[in-house]
Amino acid sequence: MNKQEKSALLKQKNLEAEQGGGEKRIASQHKKGKLTARERIALLIDEGTFEEIGKFVKHRCRDFGLENETYLGDGVITGYGNIHGRLVYVFSQDFTVFGGSLSESHAEKICKIMDLAMKNGAPVIGLNDSGGARIQEGVVSLGGYADIFYRNTLASGVVPQISAVMGPCAGGAVYSPAITDFIMMVEDTSYMFVTGPNVVKTVTHEEVTSEELGGASTHSTKSGVTQFSCANEVECINNIKKLLSFIPQNCEEDAPVYPYQSSGDEKRVVLNDIIPENPNQPYDMREVVEGIVDDGDFFEVHKNYAENIIVGFARIGGRSIGIVGNQPAVLAGVLDINSSNKAARFVRFCDAFNVPLLVLEDVPGFLPGTDQEWNGIISNGAKLLYAFCEATVPRVTVITRKAYGGAYDVMNSKHIGADMNFAWPTAEIAVMGAKGAAEIIFRKEIAASDDPESKLQEKVDDYTETFANPYRAANRGFIDEVIEPENTRTKLIRAFKMLENKVDKLPKKKHGNIPL
Ligand code: HXC
Repeated sequence: MNKQEKSALLKQKNLEAEQGGGEKRIASQHKKGKLTARERIALLIDEGTFEEIGKFVKHRCRDFGLENETYLGDGVITGYGNIHGRLVYVFSQDFTVFGGSLSESHAEKICKIMDLAMKNGAPVIGLNDSGGARIQEGVVSLGGYADIFYRNTLASGVVPQISAVMGPCAGGAVYSPAITDFIMMVEDTSYMFVTGPNVVKTVTHEEVTSEELGGASTHSTKSGVTQFSCANEVECINNIKKLLSFIPQNCEEDAPVYPYQSSGDEKRVVLNDIIPENPNQPYDMREVVEGIVDDGDFFEVHKNYAENIIVGFARIGGRSIGIVGNQPAVLAGVLDINSSNKAARFVRFCDAFNVPLLVLEDVPGFLPGTDQEWNGIISNGAKLLYAFCEATVPRVTVITRKAYGGAYDVMNSKHIGADMNFAWPTAEIAVMGAKGAAEIIFRKEIAASDDPESKLQEKVDDYTETFANPYRAANRGFIDEVIEPENTRTKLIRAFKMLENKVDKLPKKKHGNIPL
């Protein structure tokens, strides 16, 4: 073979690899409303920056006729490139090759880029579209999964890991995405479950579709397994890019700071009118967020799950922050099992990756009841408490209204390490609501009264006057400053700037034991 022929051979092999499982299967992928693995990478990675690794890798299986069926690349495209000019590592499973199923070689390709990501400190993005373990390979394929799970775990907290589920994801394969930091799913074309509808029917006699059992809507609302349910693949890929803009490359770095030019007037009078006169009337905490952050731009995470708490990313003065806010518009913003888990996971991500935390607090307490107690609100609520306690990033709290009971302590109070705690004049910081408090501590006096109703009201007014305000806490220094809502943005820009070089270390330990 002369040089020209050798070049032609390379060209032909490249073309072959780029064809994946062939035109027919590509057409079938498109017919399902799905993009191919390469099309997804082209949308995700800055044009002209993708470098592929392992394009000519083949499987080594010699069973069930597979020795006669090989595809260059073996069902996964791996490599690195830039997103908004920043390095990322990516793998994209090719459903047109053996249904994107994971062989030993396929797994090795993924492991290779994960190892590179760890050594070079950059995020790993997995675009998952796979029928699971390559059935013809047996245990070798299972071993390949385990190799990935192991790396996912070692990489956790070192480099950000983002999973997009853009097709089937079944069996133990779901556990790789589950260990990563964020999962995005695409509505109608993706699903995740440990056992599919057929097994479910055999074991529990339940009739359920794949979509109902493990579609994007199920996992974004019921289980909370996915943080983002995306209308289509383009939206999913755009979400990955936006998410990356708020976070650093690795745990040693800070998130990128965006140019921010102050108009000189950071007052936001709109904030003055959000809290209703009636303390029991709901309002939307998102209005507070939008009034505070740069351009009102809030990138909400886990939007449709445990909606009594909101979490997400934004910028303030150009700096990335993670926001946790009680949501009075849903269940009065009460803390329950799901909202505690949701917020705890978010707080831990932010802390692992140096994203400062802002807490917006309006919480009447923990949700009472047998359902909550029997399902472990104690240990689940404790996760949120633990997550805040161990967070060493800059931490600021603004109490907009209620801060009652244990929830006052949990929601980033001064006592558990918050750096700056503000309260609006409408704040009520007490052990419980005035009515409940009066009924307990004045029960005998009220019962003995000729007019128990007026007596109760008198005591409620008394308790309200004494405790339903921020001043007792401010007298103690538990609140650093009581501020007018309109000044919140200015105060926060200054507080986060003041805290930008914060150094805080946890006691030396192997690792803590969060109440899982
Ligand atoms: C090898 C597979 C495969 C697999 C699909 N294919 N899954 N090949 N191993 N796991 C192949 C098919 O033979 C077919 O090949 C092509 O991929 C497309 O599959 P179709 O069935 O035609 O596609 P579709 O109708 O869209 O159905 C997709 C599917 C289905 C729902 C994923 O293929 C399926 O149920 N696959 C098996 C899923 C499974 O049980 N996996 C093992 C899970 S257990 P051709 O040549 O016709 O194109 C597991 C353990 C992991 O993964 C444990 C980790 C700890």
